[in-house]
Amino acid sequence: MRILGIESSCDETGVALYDSASGQMVHALHSQVDLHRAYGGVVPELASRDHVRRLLPLVDTVLAQAACGRGDLDAIAVTAGPGLAGALLVGCGVAAALGYALDRPVVPVHHLEGHLLSPLLATPAPVFPFVSLLVSGGHTQLLRVQAPGRYELLGETLDDAAGEAFDKTAQMLGLGYPGGPEVSQLAQQGRAGAVQLPRPMIASGDLNMSFSGLKTAVLTAVRRLESAGTGDMAAQRADVARGFVDAAVEVLSRKAQLALERTGLRQLVVAGGVGANRQLRTALQSAIAAAGGQVFYPPADLCTDNGAMIAYAGFVRLTQLPRSTGPVPPLRVRPRWNLCDLES
Ligand code: KG4
Ligand code: ZN
Repeated sequence: MRILGIESSCDETGVALYDSASGQMVHALHSQVDLHRAYGGVVPELASRDHVRRLLPLVDTVLAQAACGRGDLDAIAVTAGPGLAGALLVGCGVAAALGYALDRPVVPVHHLEGHLLSPLLATPAPVFPFVSLLVSGGHTQLLRVQAPGRYELLGETLDDAAGEAFDKTAQMLGLGYPGGPEVSQLAQQGRAGAVQLPRPMIASGDLNMSFSGLKTAVLTAVRRLESAGTGDMAAQRADVARGFVDAAVEVLSRKAQLALERTGLRQLVVAGGVGANRQLRTALQSAIAAAGGQVFYPPADLCTDNGAMIAYAGFVRLTQLPRSTGPVPPLRVRPRWNLCDLES
């Protein structure tokens, strides 16, 4: 089966072609980071307009690279939510048009299911069931993944997502956008323990998390050093970055460990943009290995948003989940969409 994947939920236009017979995955990505940088965050209207410009050329690029004609496609998978409504509409519009023109099924995919299943594209891959730590710009959740389509929420952030806290911390420290990689890099120059920040909800006994208090603590620390205005400011900023990263990573890794203990499972899958974080990877590796578990990640280029994870999730949905009989429901975008509401 050859399935085209389309991702346009936020600020990345991603297209991929997955050929299940050969296992070949060809994918192409256009990042809008440069477009939004001046605004310090994603501007939804600009994002939608750029998806319109980029999507069809990317489809052509991927099909050419895979030496696949449009008529050779068996299905089209597209992110239907959650995400920015206008941005999702661009991807869904193109997918619906292709499906109609080629008379092929269009599979609506939940963006987070794409992230969740993407470690299955790596070698070695986890086997069901496993615990997933989903850490992106909009979500921070721990899930028990029993099988494709069967997801149980174990705990989640009660306020900001971890990625959002990274991005806001970057902004407060005067770093660029997106903030995660920059904060992570700066933290490597900071001293451990020089700036002590809280680890919200680390001892709450449940699997929920909170990052907004940590963000406020960063703001207080930055204001304090700016109003003092003494010493090596760059070094002190690095200490704040280090304090933030150490706190966020400790909370995430403790909660992930607890999720394995509570479920009795041994495999932890980490997905979403923050999963690319080096400090988080190091902490999880030692904590989970010490407890006799194993950590899995998507292939390096598939950690942040991309079309490959959507093509793969669409393939899994089409081939491994029972299809409802009766008329095919119309494709609709779902800017808000709870992963645990997914009907299997
Ligand atoms: O999954 P993703 O690409 O998009 C969403 O679905 O949100 O995640 C983007 C988030 C951003 O907040 C970005 O700052 C963060 O992932 N991120 C990182 C790193 N790379 C990306 N955070 C920490 N360390 C990184 N290396
Ligand atoms: Zn994402």
